[in-house]
Amino acid sequence: MRKVVRSFDEWRAAARDLIGRRVAPEYVEWAGSEDEGDLFTAPDAAPAPVEPPAAPGLLLPRAFVEMLAAAACYSAADRWAFLYKLLWRWQRGERELMSAADPDGARLHNMVKAVHREEHDMHAYVRFRERPEQAGAPRFVAWFEPTHDVLPQVARHFANRMGRATWMIATPSATVLWDGERLHDAPPRMRSAADIEDSGEALWLTYYRSIFNPARLNADLLRSHIPSRFWKNLPEGAIVPAMISGAANGDRRTGQTSTVGRRGGATTIAVTPERAQPQRDAPDTLDQCRRCELWRNATQAVPGVGPKKARIMLVGEQPGDQEDLQGLPFVGPAGAVLDRALAEAGVARDQVYLTNAVKHFKWELRGKRRLHKTPAQREVSACHVWLEEELARVKPEVVVALGATALKSVMRDGGATMSAVMDAPFQHEGRWVVAVYHPSFVLRARDEESRKQAYEVIVAGLREALKLAPARSG
Ligand code: URA
Repeated sequence: MRKVVRSFDEWRAAARDLIGRRVAPEYVEWAGSEDEGDLFTAPDAAPAPVEPPAAPGLLLPRAFVEMLAAAACYSAADRWAFLYKLLWRWQRGERELMSAADPDGARLHNMVKAVHREEHDMHAYVRFRERPEQAGAPRFVAWFEPTHDVLPQVARHFANRMGRATWMIATPSATVLWDGERLHDAPPRMRSAADIEDSGEALWLTYYRSIFNPARLNADLLRSHIPSRFWKNLPEGAIVPAMISGAANGDRRTGQTSTVGRRGGATTIAVTPERAQPQRDAPDTLDQCRRCELWRNATQAVPGVGPKKARIMLVGEQPGDQEDLQGLPFVGPAGAVLDRALAEAGVARDQVYLTNAVKHFKWELRGKRRLHKTPAQREVSACHVWLEEELARVKPEVVVALGATALKSVMRDGGATMSAVMDAPFQHEGRWVVAVYHPSFVLRARDEESRKQAYEVIVAGLREALKLAPARSG
C-alpha cells in the first residue's frame, strides 16, 4: 500500500488510519511526493492483509508526539516509514523505543537533536537584506539552505520577532512570505543569496566591522561557532577572513578601547587612545539603527516629535505598545496621563519636544499581550547617541526627565537615581534638568492616594519647567 504525505499532519492522519486497520509497517510504502518511490516496487505490489477488528484508539503522550513532529522535519528518504515503524512499535506496547538505548530510540533522539540544532542555526544565521521599497514586494529578503525542513517553525519565530516589517525567506525547496500580518507559502523566486539586491548590506558590513574587536578574537572559537556551510550566505563571511588576518597581524595590539587608555595602573599601551579606538559613526538614520537588539522585535523606531527649537524637551523611557504601532511617542495610556498633566500645568503639548531615551519598544509576550519590559542599561547607552543628536539639534533650555531611565540617559550616568535629584531643578551640561515620575508610575500606583501624589509631582515638575523656559510670545 502506497501513501504519499507532504507534512507531519498528513502523515499523522494516514498513520492513525493504518494503525486503526492494523496494517504492519512492511506493507506500507511511504513517499513524500507522487513521483518518489522505489523503482523496483510497483505501487500496491504487496496487498496488506486486513485484520478486523480495528485497534482501540491510539493515545500518545505529548512528549512522544512532539518528538515525532520534530523528527518529521529531518531530511531522510525513509523518515515517514521510520516514524510509522515507531508508531507501530508503540501501539504494541514497546515503550523502550523512547530510550536512547533502543536502536530506533537512538535514531529518533538523534533526529530530534539535529532538527533542533538546525532551527537554532537558522535563527542565528539567517541574514535579512533590505530591498528598496516597492509596492507588494517584501522589504527584507533572506536566502538560507537548511539541512532539514525547519522553514515553517523558523518563519513563525521571525514572524513573532520582526514586528510588521514585510519579509521573505527563500530556501532551495520552499519560500515563506510574511506580509506584516500573516505567513504565506510563496513560489521560489531566488536561486542564491547573490541574487538578492541589497541596499542595507553596506551598512551591515560597516556595523560588523565596528563591533569586531580584534583584541578579543578567538578565531578557532569563531569557526567552531559558525559552521563553514553558513559562511557563504553571511554578508560578513566575505570580510571576516581579512579581519582575522588583520587581527593576527597587529590590530590586536592597537584595538584597545579608549577606556583602557584612560585607566591608570601599570599597563603600558603602545598607542594613543584616540588612535586605538577611532570614533564610530552612528548609523545614518534611526530606522537603520542596529546598535542594540531591540529593533528586532519592534515594529519601527519611534523618533521624537515637536517644534524644531522647542524650549522644553520631555524625555520618556521607551515607546509602548501603541507608540510602537503608530510610530509616535506618548500616544497610549501613559500619553493620556501626560496630556492631562501638561494641560493642568498650562504647558501646550505642541510647544514641547517629546521623545524617549530608548527608541524601540522592548516587550515580552504575556498571553497575546506585548508587555513593556524595562530596557537594560546597555540598551539605554546604545540609544543615547540619538538623544544626544536631538539635544544638539533642538537645543532645549529645559529637559524634563520622566522617570529613572530617562534620567540615566540625560545624565549619561547609569547610576543616577531619582531620589537624589527629584526635589529641585538642577543644571547639567548647560541646561536645566527637571526630574519627575514617569506617567506610567501613576497608572501602576497601588492606591488612589499614591496615584494622586505621583501625578502632582509630574504637574509640579512641568510647571517648574515652564517657569524656567517660558513659552515664546507671538
Ligand atoms: N512611555 C514612554 O516612556 N514613552 C512613550 O512614548 C510611551 C510610554
